[in-house]
Amino acid sequence: MRDLSSDLPVRLEGVSLRAGATTILDRVDLSIAPGAPTLIVGPNGSGKTSLLRLCMGLATPSEGRISWGGRDALRPGRLAMLFQRPVMLRRSVADNVVYGLAKAGLPRKQRMARMEEALSRVGLLELASRPARRLSGGEQQRVALARALAREPELLLLDEPTASLDPAATRAVEEIITMASQSGIKVVMASHDLGQVRRLAGEVVFLVRGRLCERAGASDFFDRPSTLEAAAFVRGDLVI
Ligand SMILES: Nc1ncnc2c1ncn2[C@@H]1O[C@H](COP(=O)(O)OP(=O)(O)O)[C@@H](O)[C@H]1O
Ligand SMILES: [Mg+2]
Repeated sequence: MRDLSSDLPVRLEGVSLRAGATTILDRVDLSIAPGAPTLIVGPNGSGKTSLLRLCMGLATPSEGRISWGGRDALRPGRLAMLFQRPVMLRRSVADNVVYGLAKAGLPRKQRMARMEEALSRVGLLELASRPARRLSGGEQQRVALARALAREPELLLLDEPTASLDPAATRAVEEIITMASQSGIKVVMASHDLGQVRRLAGEVVFLVRGRLCERAGASDFFDRPSTLEAAAFVRGDLVI
């Protein structure tokens, strides 16, 4: 029986997104179901961020239809999105997480325990009282992950969360993403980093110039890409 309380699958049917005369996404059909992480892959400008914004309900299709768990609207509170650069309030690390929980409507009495649990999951409990904006970029991204995970989302959308991080910080963030996925949260993540896609992807959605060029399980995508563009990307060539 279908789970009536779920926002999954997220289903896009013939979805186009236009801004003026520009077609940003062109007739995308896609279903995002529970399971291993879905990596949205493609060169800069291919439409990855726009696709995530549509899934988050932050943009509306110019054509076509999106549904969440079979409904036309998503339920507030069960989706979380992270951006390339974390947005930190000018407050302590702990307050950043607590503020997110307050916004999500969690009763005050439960907030402290939930915050502490989330910060310990990302390895930052000892920095709880520091001003969040003074942390390194990687630590801030982990705070953003804690803020998202504390709300116990069903779906976690990540827009190139490691694009401005060094390898050590990237690894720490990837470990948290893997842990979240293994705990049953559906992860949908945009990346243009081939190595990262190999490390994290259960399935790959490959975009080129706003079109869904290829969609496959990660091993098929890397071992048997079926389009020239995907083959070039897998080889590490520049795909424009
Ligand atoms: N609001 C907008 N108005 C006009 N063009 C846009 C707008 N948003 C995105 N675009 C264009 O759409 C294309 C896809 O953008 P984006 O989804 O950010 O791609 P990606 O995340 O893969 O780099 C880009 O060429 C971008 O300039
Ligand atoms: Mg982008």
